[in-house]
Amino acid sequence: MDHFEYRDGVLYGEDVPLAQVAERFGTPCYVYSRATLERHYRAYTEALGSHPHLICYAVKANSNLAVLNLLARLGAGFDIVSQGELERVLAAGGDPAKVVFSGVAKQADEMTRALEVGIKCFNVESLPELERLNAVAASLDKVAPVSLRVNPDVDARTHPYISTGLKANKFGIAIDQAVEVYERAAALPNVDPVGIDCHIGSQLTELSPFLDALDRLLVLLDRLKERGIHIEHLDLGGGLGVPYQGETPPAPFDYARALLERLSAWDGKRNLTLLFEPGRSIAANAGVLLTRVEYLKPGETKNFAIVDAGMNDLIRPSLYQAWQAIIPADTRMPRDTATYDVVGPVCETGDFLGKDRDLAVDAGDLLAVRSSGAYGFVMASNYNSRPRPAEVMVDGDRTHLVRRRERLEDLWAGESLLPESR
Ligand code: LLP
Repeated sequence: MDHFEYRDGVLYGEDVPLAQVAERFGTPCYVYSRATLERHYRAYTEALGSHPHLICYAVKANSNLAVLNLLARLGAGFDIVSQGELERVLAAGGDPAKVVFSGVAKQADEMTRALEVGIKCFNVESLPELERLNAVAASLDKVAPVSLRVNPDVDARTHPYISTGLKANKFGIAIDQAVEVYERAAALPNVDPVGIDCHIGSQLTELSPFLDALDRLLVLLDRLKERGIHIEHLDLGGGLGVPYQGETPPAPFDYARALLERLSAWDGKRNLTLLFEPGRSIAANAGVLLTRVEYLKPGETKNFAIVDAGMNDLIRPSLYQAWQAIIPADTRMPRDTATYDVVGPVCETGDFLGKDRDLAVDAGDLLAVRSSGAYGFVMASNYNSRPRPAEVMVDGDRTHLVRRRERLEDLWAGESLLPESR
């Protein structure tokens, strides 16, 4: 459930009419709902109850400082994949001791910074990374807490670009080799294997791949225990899907319950701390992208609604053929309904936000692209020299600009000309 809904034909974000946000801050513009973000985060913590746990929000989904700060205030941890994300978490008041660091290509200077601020754990994705981390930690006279990201070889049954837990994917350490790598980790002086980690994909709409992955990790944990390697936490990554177009993914509550049941059947006494790295399920439906119709262009085979947001603002439809609902911000005006491709200003045929949508719109109308709070602004670019949009957070009847729209001069900031003569 989210807090974007119609009241008497007018679309609101919490208690703010979205048209008012567009008036004030212009379009295109991302709008996030504080209450929705908080509700989605709490769905996880409430489901886990008294079982030891840490929800490490996946910063990549939406890294706006205001979003991170709200979650930090609720006690969230963070899953990061770069030093940039780490610095954002710190700038937003996040606790480094609740940060886990994922990603296949961690650089030595990123490791150094993470060790200096004292993160909770490195999710190590390969043997060479483990060796590098050990060397970096040794140079700082520290011991790095590590979790190996194991690739359990389960099919997440999601879009191939966001499926990560198969043998053919670049992520993680093959489950068959995991014991060997754990033994190496246990033997190295400057890393300490404290956890086990997996992330099998994103936008999962069924429980079974998660449970299959858990079962495989539990078998591995038993094998590690036999070898005297004691693991304190189990990190199941992110991946829980959201309803974009009638999908019915399990709610965080059902997901957490099913996992806890499976865990206690295995060995209730172990009381492993559970970590999760949810991104989409917290942020996606907590945001919309507001865009205005510039022109209606009837065509011979298609009608186009040309809007002021393009693939540079929201790339999911173009990149993954993702379907996101597109709805008018005000339904009170009389309009004829027609079927449109909702397309942006970018000079690419692939620049669309939605295809074959039945819409009652006119030029000048405001539309909201729903479910845009995750993998929206963070994937925006300046392609076609288009400034990135503003980001706004609504909180009850209040509206806060949480990132100003880029200015034209921001586009070439940092660029320079060659000298006049050689
Ligand atoms: N943990 C790791 C290690 C990940 O790679 C990801 C996402 C997450 C957690 C968070 O997963 P989530 O709960 O959001 O599913 N841009 C794509 C999604 C890419 C996901 C990448 N990894 C999209 O727009 O659909």
